[in-house]
Amino acid sequence: MSFRTVVMPVAGLGTRFLPATKVQPKELMTLVDRPLIQFAVEEAVAAGAERIVLVSSPGKESVSRHFRPHPELERRLADRGKADLLALVEATNEMASVSEVEQPEPLGVGHAILLARDAVGASAGEAFGVMFPDDFIIADDPVMEQLRRVQEQYGGIVIAVERVPRDQVDRYGVISGERVAGNVYRVDDMVEKPKPEEAPSNLAVVGRYVLPVEIFDRLALTTPGVGGEIQITDAMKAALGDLPCHVVEFEGLRFDCGSKLGFVKATIEHARRRADIGPELEEYLAR
Ligand code: G1P
Repeated sequence: MSFRTVVMPVAGLGTRFLPATKVQPKELMTLVDRPLIQFAVEEAVAAGAERIVLVSSPGKESVSRHFRPHPELERRLADRGKADLLALVEATNEMASVSEVEQPEPLGVGHAILLARDAVGASAGEAFGVMFPDDFIIADDPVMEQLRRVQEQYGGIVIAVERVPRDQVDRYGVISGERVAGNVYRVDDMVEKPKPEEAPSNLAVVGRYVLPVEIFDRLALTTPGVGGEIQITDAMKAALGDLPCHVVEFEGLRFDCGSKLGFVKATIEHARRRADIGPELEEYLAR
Protein backbone atom coordinates (compact mmCIF):
# COMPACT_ATOMS: atom_id res chain seq x y z
CA MET A 1 0.00 0.00 0.00
CA SER A 2 1.33 3.43 -0.76
CA PHE A 3 0.82 6.50 1.39
CA ARG A 4 -0.14 10.00 0.29
CA THR A 5 0.71 11.86 3.47
CA VAL A 6 3.82 12.09 5.61
CA VAL A 7 3.75 13.63 9.10
CA MET A 8 6.88 15.40 10.32
CA PRO A 9 7.09 16.43 13.98
CA VAL A 10 9.09 19.66 14.05
CA ALA A 11 7.96 21.30 17.28
CA GLY A 12 11.23 20.86 19.23
CA LEU A 13 13.15 23.87 20.51
CA GLY A 14 16.48 22.67 19.15
CA THR A 15 18.18 23.56 22.42
CA ARG A 16 21.33 21.60 21.51
CA PHE A 17 22.03 24.16 18.80
CA LEU A 18 21.49 27.36 20.78
CA PRO A 19 22.14 30.15 20.08
CA ALA A 20 21.79 29.22 16.36
CA THR A 21 18.21 28.14 17.04
CA LYS A 22 17.23 31.24 19.01
CA VAL A 23 15.27 32.63 16.05
CA GLN A 24 15.97 30.03 13.33
CA PRO A 25 14.25 26.64 13.63
CA LYS A 26 16.77 23.79 13.57
CA GLU A 27 14.86 22.24 10.65
CA LEU A 28 15.99 25.22 8.55
CA MET A 29 19.66 24.69 9.34
CA THR A 30 21.35 23.83 6.07
CA LEU A 31 23.53 21.11 4.70
CA VAL A 32 25.42 23.36 2.26
CA ASP A 33 22.44 25.09 0.61
CA ARG A 34 19.33 23.10 1.43
CA PRO A 35 17.59 23.09 4.80
CA LEU A 36 17.21 19.76 6.63
CA ILE A 37 13.45 19.87 6.24
CA GLN A 38 13.79 20.00 2.45
CA PHE A 39 15.85 16.79 2.38
CA ALA A 40 13.07 15.09 4.36
CA VAL A 41 10.33 16.39 2.07
CA GLU A 42 12.29 15.31 -1.02
CA GLU A 43 12.65 11.80 0.43
CA ALA A 44 8.91 11.64 1.17
CA VAL A 45 8.05 12.79 -2.35
CA ALA A 46 10.45 10.22 -3.81
CA ALA A 47 8.34 7.56 -2.08
CA GLY A 48 5.15 8.90 -3.67
CA ALA A 49 3.90 11.26 -0.96
CA GLU A 50 1.95 14.33 -2.10
CA ARG A 51 1.09 15.92 1.23
CA ILE A 52 3.29 16.84 4.17
CA VAL A 53 1.85 17.68 7.59
CA LEU A 54 4.28 19.56 9.82
CA VAL A 55 3.51 19.36 13.53
CA SER A 56 5.01 22.61 14.62
CA SER A 57 5.09 24.95 17.61
CA PRO A 58 4.53 28.69 17.96
CA GLY A 59 7.39 30.69 16.45
CA LYS A 60 8.36 28.07 13.87
CA GLU A 61 6.10 29.20 11.03
CA SER A 62 9.13 29.79 8.82
CA VAL A 63 9.53 26.01 8.36
CA SER A 64 6.33 25.77 6.29
CA ARG A 65 7.06 29.13 4.62
CA HIS A 66 10.06 27.47 2.99
CA PHE A 67 7.57 25.58 0.80
CA ARG A 68 5.40 28.54 -0.16
CA PRO A 69 5.93 31.06 -2.99
CA HIS A 70 8.04 34.15 -2.26
CA PRO A 71 6.75 36.52 -4.97
CA GLU A 72 9.16 39.37 -4.24
CA LEU A 73 12.25 37.15 -4.41
CA GLU A 74 10.96 35.33 -7.47
CA ARG A 75 10.24 38.61 -9.30
CA ARG A 76 13.73 39.91 -8.56
CA LEU A 77 15.39 36.74 -9.77
CA ALA A 78 13.27 36.85 -12.94
CA ASP A 79 14.13 40.53 -13.53
CA ARG A 80 17.83 39.73 -13.29
CA GLY A 81 17.55 36.79 -15.66
CA LYS A 82 18.58 34.27 -12.95
CA ALA A 83 16.56 31.44 -14.46
CA ASP A 84 18.52 28.67 -12.70
CA LEU A 85 18.07 30.20 -9.24
CA LEU A 86 14.41 30.94 -9.95
CA ALA A 87 13.92 27.29 -10.86
CA LEU A 88 15.47 26.21 -7.53
CA VAL A 89 13.10 28.47 -5.61
CA GLU A 90 10.04 27.48 -7.62
CA ALA A 91 10.82 23.81 -7.11
CA THR A 92 10.43 24.27 -3.34
CA ASN A 93 6.97 25.83 -3.89
CA GLU A 94 5.79 22.90 -5.96
CA MET A 95 7.40 19.99 -4.13
CA ALA A 96 4.32 18.96 -2.14
CA SER A 97 1.28 20.37 -0.44
CA VAL A 98 2.66 21.36 2.96
CA SER A 99 0.30 22.11 5.83
CA GLU A 100 0.84 22.72 9.49
CA VAL A 101 -0.80 21.80 12.77
CA GLU A 102 0.30 23.24 16.08
CA GLN A 103 1.59 21.32 19.08
CA PRO A 104 1.22 23.89 21.84
CA GLU A 105 3.05 21.81 24.46
CA PRO A 106 5.95 19.32 24.12
CA LEU A 107 4.06 16.20 25.17
CA GLY A 108 6.04 13.77 23.01
CA VAL A 109 6.32 12.48 19.44
CA GLY A 110 3.29 10.21 19.91
CA HIS A 111 1.25 13.24 20.92
CA ALA A 112 2.58 15.16 17.91
CA ILE A 113 1.52 12.38 15.53
CA LEU A 114 -1.94 12.17 17.12
CA LEU A 115 -2.43 15.92 16.56
CA ALA A 116 -2.00 15.29 12.82
CA ARG A 117 -4.94 12.85 12.75
CA ASP A 118 -7.48 15.18 11.09
CA ALA A 119 -4.91 16.56 8.67
CA VAL A 120 -3.93 13.03 7.59
CA GLY A 121 -7.63 12.33 7.15
CA ALA A 122 -7.10 8.87 5.65
CA SER A 123 -9.82 6.26 5.92
CA ALA A 124 -9.66 2.80 7.45
CA GLY A 125 -7.18 0.49 5.78
CA GLU A 126 -4.94 3.32 4.61
CA ALA A 127 -1.47 4.21 5.78
CA PHE A 128 0.64 7.33 6.27
CA GLY A 129 4.31 8.03 6.77
CA VAL A 130 6.17 9.63 9.67
CA MET A 131 9.64 11.13 9.36
CA PHE A 132 11.87 12.93 11.85
CA PRO A 133 13.92 15.43 9.80
CA ASP A 134 16.77 15.20 12.36
CA ASP A 135 17.58 11.75 11.03
CA PHE A 136 19.28 12.62 7.74
CA ILE A 137 19.97 9.62 5.52
CA ILE A 138 22.09 9.42 2.38
CA ALA A 139 20.76 6.56 0.25
CA ASP A 140 20.57 5.79 -3.47
CA ASP A 141 17.21 4.14 -2.81
CA PRO A 142 15.28 6.60 -0.59
CA VAL A 143 14.56 4.99 2.78
CA MET A 144 10.85 5.89 2.78
CA GLU A 145 10.61 4.11 -0.58
CA GLN A 146 12.39 1.05 0.91
CA LEU A 147 9.76 1.06 3.70
CA ARG A 148 6.89 1.58 1.25
CA ARG A 149 7.82 -1.57 -0.68
CA VAL A 150 8.03 -3.67 2.50
CA GLN A 151 4.69 -2.26 3.70
CA GLU A 152 3.14 -3.15 0.33
CA GLN A 153 4.24 -6.74 0.86
CA TYR A 154 3.46 -7.24 4.57
CA GLY A 155 0.92 -4.51 5.43
CA GLY A 156 0.66 -3.10 8.94
CA ILE A 157 3.44 -1.14 10.60
CA VAL A 158 6.87 -0.84 8.98
CA ILE A 159 9.79 0.94 10.67
CA ALA A 160 13.39 1.69 9.71
CA VAL A 161 16.04 0.30 12.06
CA GLU A 162 19.79 0.35 12.35
CA ARG A 163 22.22 -1.60 14.53
CA VAL A 164 23.81 0.71 17.10
CA PRO A 165 26.50 0.11 19.73
CA ARG A 166 24.99 -1.43 22.89
CA ASP A 167 25.92 1.54 25.05
CA GLN A 168 23.79 3.82 22.83
CA VAL A 169 20.50 1.88 22.86
CA ASP A 170 19.10 4.16 25.58
CA ARG A 171 18.70 6.94 23.01
CA TYR A 172 16.32 4.96 20.81
CA GLY A 173 13.28 2.78 20.50
CA VAL A 174 14.65 -0.80 20.37
CA ILE A 175 12.95 -3.84 18.85
CA SER A 176 13.34 -7.58 19.00
CA GLY A 177 12.15 -9.84 16.25
CA GLU A 178 12.77 -12.66 13.84
CA ARG A 179 14.26 -12.29 10.38
CA VAL A 180 11.68 -13.07 7.68
CA ALA A 181 13.63 -11.96 4.61
CA GLY A 182 17.03 -10.42 3.80
CA ASN A 183 16.83 -7.17 5.76
CA VAL A 184 13.27 -7.50 7.12
CA TYR A 185 12.35 -8.65 10.65
CA ARG A 186 8.94 -9.42 12.14
CA VAL A 187 8.72 -7.57 15.44
CA ASP A 188 7.70 -9.35 18.64
CA ASP A 189 8.64 -6.68 21.17
CA MET A 190 9.76 -3.09 21.38
CA VAL A 191 10.79 -0.74 24.13
CA GLU A 192 11.50 2.99 24.21
CA LYS A 193 14.96 4.02 25.43
CA PRO A 194 15.86 0.87 27.40
CA LYS A 195 18.91 0.59 29.65
CA PRO A 196 21.66 -1.26 27.74
CA GLU A 197 21.40 -4.28 30.07
CA GLU A 198 17.62 -4.49 29.52
CA ALA A 199 17.51 -3.91 25.76
CA PRO A 200 16.08 -6.82 23.74
CA SER A 201 18.66 -6.24 20.95
CA ASN A 202 20.71 -3.46 19.40
CA LEU A 203 18.25 -2.85 16.54
CA ALA A 204 17.37 0.81 17.03
CA VAL A 205 14.43 2.64 15.51
CA VAL A 206 15.40 5.45 13.15
CA GLY A 207 12.99 8.29 12.40
CA ARG A 208 11.11 6.69 9.47
CA TYR A 209 7.77 4.88 9.83
CA VAL A 210 4.84 3.72 7.72
CA LEU A 211 1.77 3.44 9.96
CA PRO A 212 -1.77 2.24 9.29
CA VAL A 213 -4.36 4.87 10.33
CA GLU A 214 -5.59 2.42 12.99
CA ILE A 215 -2.55 3.53 15.03
CA PHE A 216 -4.39 6.78 15.86
CA ASP A 217 -6.91 4.87 18.02
CA ARG A 218 -3.98 3.30 19.90
CA LEU A 219 -2.25 6.65 20.31
CA ALA A 220 -5.42 8.15 21.78
CA LEU A 221 -5.28 5.48 24.51
CA THR A 222 -1.53 5.77 25.15
CA THR A 223 -0.51 7.22 28.51
CA PRO A 224 2.78 9.08 29.09
CA GLY A 225 5.83 6.80 29.11
CA VAL A 226 9.58 7.46 29.15
CA GLY A 227 10.33 11.10 29.97
CA GLY A 228 6.67 11.70 30.83
CA GLU A 229 5.94 11.89 27.08
CA ILE A 230 3.45 10.08 24.88
CA GLN A 231 5.60 7.69 22.87
CA ILE A 232 4.81 6.31 19.41
CA THR A 233 6.84 3.24 20.45
CA ASP A 234 4.30 2.47 23.22
CA ALA A 235 1.35 2.81 20.81
CA MET A 236 3.00 0.49 18.26
CA LYS A 237 3.83 -2.03 20.99
CA ALA A 238 0.20 -2.01 22.13
CA ALA A 239 -0.88 -2.70 18.53
CA LEU A 240 1.46 -5.72 18.09
CA GLY A 241 -1.34 -8.28 18.57
CA ASP A 242 -3.64 -6.60 16.04
CA LEU A 243 -1.38 -5.28 13.30
CA PRO A 244 1.55 -6.92 11.53
CA CYS A 245 4.75 -5.08 12.44
CA HIS A 246 8.04 -5.32 10.53
CA VAL A 247 11.30 -3.44 10.58
CA VAL A 248 13.71 -2.86 7.74
CA GLU A 249 17.45 -2.70 8.27
CA PHE A 250 17.65 -0.04 5.57
CA GLU A 251 20.44 0.59 3.12
CA GLY A 252 21.91 4.03 3.61
CA LEU A 253 24.11 6.21 5.77
CA ARG A 254 22.31 7.86 8.65
CA PHE A 255 23.37 10.97 10.54
CA ASP A 256 21.84 12.26 13.75
CA CYS A 257 21.50 15.92 12.86
CA GLY A 258 20.05 16.53 16.32
CA SER A 259 23.64 16.36 17.61
CA LYS A 260 26.44 18.77 16.75
CA LEU A 261 28.87 16.08 15.68
CA GLY A 262 26.22 14.30 13.61
CA PHE A 263 25.33 17.53 11.89
CA VAL A 264 28.95 18.29 10.99
CA LYS A 265 29.48 14.74 9.69
CA ALA A 266 26.30 15.04 7.60
CA THR A 267 27.51 18.32 6.15
CA ILE A 268 30.85 16.81 5.14
CA GLU A 269 29.40 13.60 3.69
CA HIS A 270 26.71 15.45 1.75
CA ALA A 271 29.21 18.01 0.45
CA ARG A 272 31.67 15.31 -0.63
CA ARG A 273 29.02 13.79 -2.86
CA ARG A 274 28.09 16.99 -4.65
CA ALA A 275 29.28 17.59 -8.18
CA ASP A 276 29.79 21.35 -7.64
CA ILE A 277 32.02 21.33 -4.55
CA GLY A 278 32.76 17.64 -3.89
CA PRO A 279 36.02 17.28 -5.87
CA GLU A 280 37.60 20.42 -4.36
CA LEU A 281 36.48 19.45 -0.87
CA GLU A 282 38.07 16.00 -1.27
CA GLU A 283 41.30 17.65 -2.31
CA TYR A 284 41.15 19.98 0.69
CA LEU A 285 40.41 17.13 3.11
CA ALA A 286 43.27 15.06 1.70
CA ARG A 287 45.66 17.92 2.48
C1 G1P B 1 12.39 9.23 18.77
C2 G1P B 1 11.64 7.93 19.04
C3 G1P B 1 12.64 6.77 19.18
C4 G1P B 1 13.50 6.70 17.93
C5 G1P B 1 14.18 8.06 17.65
C6 G1P B 1 14.89 8.03 16.31
O1 G1P B 1 13.14 9.56 19.90
O2 G1P B 1 10.89 8.08 20.23
O3 G1P B 1 11.94 5.57 19.36
O4 G1P B 1 14.47 5.69 18.10
O5 G1P B 1 13.22 9.12 17.63
O6 G1P B 1 15.52 9.22 16.04
P1 G1P B 1 13.74 11.05 20.15
O7 G1P B 1 14.94 11.17 19.27
O8 G1P B 1 12.64 11.99 19.78
O9 G1P B 1 14.08 11.09 21.60
